[in-house]
Amino acid sequence: MSKKYRIASMPGDGIGIEVMEAARLVLDVLRLDAEYVHADVGWEFWCREGNPLPQRTVETLKSCTCALFGAITSKPKEEAERELAPELKGKGFSYRSPIVHLRQLFDLYIALRPCKAYPGNPLNYREDINLVVFRENTEGLYSGIEFHPVPGEVRAVLEKHGSQMRLFKNVPSEEMAIGLRVITQKGGQRIIRAAFEYAQKGGYPKVTLVEKPNVLRETSGLMIQEGKRVASQFPDIQLEMTNIDAQMMWLLKNPRNYGVLVTSNLFGDILSDLASQLVGGLGFACSGNLSDRFAVFEPVHGSAPKYAGLYKVNPMAMLLAVKMMLDWLKEKEKAAALESAIAAVIADGRVRTYDLGGSSSTLEMAKTVAERI
Ligand code: NAI
Ligand code: MG
Repeated sequence: MSKKYRIASMPGDGIGIEVMEAARLVLDVLRLDAEYVHADVGWEFWCREGNPLPQRTVETLKSCTCALFGAITSKPKEEAERELAPELKGKGFSYRSPIVHLRQLFDLYIALRPCKAYPGNPLNYREDINLVVFRENTEGLYSGIEFHPVPGEVRAVLEKHGSQMRLFKNVPSEEMAIGLRVITQKGGQRIIRAAFEYAQKGGYPKVTLVEKPNVLRETSGLMIQEGKRVASQFPDIQLEMTNIDAQMMWLLKNPRNYGVLVTSNLFGDILSDLASQLVGGLGFACSGNLSDRFAVFEPVHGSAPKYAGLYKVNPMAMLLAVKMMLDWLKEKEKAAALESAIAAVIADGRVRTYDLGGSSSTLEMAKTVAERI
């Protein structure tokens, strides 16, 4: 009989494989009506095939409801070239991050990062922190439009239109690098709208839009313009506007003052790392890459090579990513059951991985969660 959901499972490299095992263990106990399809991704496929995200994986994903992603290894340019299979060397293969590639291929414009301080977590910075970061995932400073050296034509256009270019008129093009922060009205609007819709559903009184419009007058200015436009459609929710630098300070000082934060790509990357550290760090940080039709859920951490194969790392980040997936699938009861099991195991504190000061294994922790469901 065919299942309700088809879920791609991309364990990737290193501890990605171990935390994916933990995820399956818990999903099996939850009896989600799903078929799980393995999909290849990661360093091994770069080395053997010259592509860490093989086309067959992209095809598999297109046939799935959503996907779970473990973690991948990526290495600098020279090492990547060196580890490529001999027959592929010098054939023009270049490494591209599979997760960044997936975001672009499936237009996963929302990076959603919830950060919740579960009571009893010894790594909590403060109790009662419960916030989410909406990070724009496809444009901004990560658009990939960068130059070094700066081509003459590009320079000429910039000099013609940007009076501030005069400050750099004596710098040779080879000694200059330029990257573009591209903000579009559509890109700004849809991430801010997603944040407001989330706030409305969750009963939050305000949305905090974090930018820097006093300095980045045009790009942050456009985000603010769209923020005001979207906010006007949500009269019950206050639009709070802050600057990224001050916001980092306020988040550390008064983390309980924030609920839903929304921002552009790089600011969101930075903001969400700080926010996750407030509630236990990489062992607890989960993330959803979402569009209106597809989604990829993952822990924020990477493949942690020094722990690979040891089954020592904390599976909670991955299990919380599974909880996010269940929410996205509107499996509210299962999501709530998983979350209360996770909360109970944290509060109980008897089964703890090394980062929490214990010596339990990845799978012991996952089994304990599964037993509490
Ligand atoms: P990492 O996140 O893999 O690990 C850094 C350190 O954080 C680990 O050594 C460990 O001490 C701790 N840690 C990570 N996950 C943990 C967990 N679940 N429980 C307890 N402790 C945990 O970052 P690193 O070492 O900078 O990168 C390793 C590889 O991962 C690199 O190749 C990098 O490119 C890749 N990476 C991949 C990401 C992804 O798949 N989305 C994200 C970040 C890095
Ligand atoms: Mg980051």
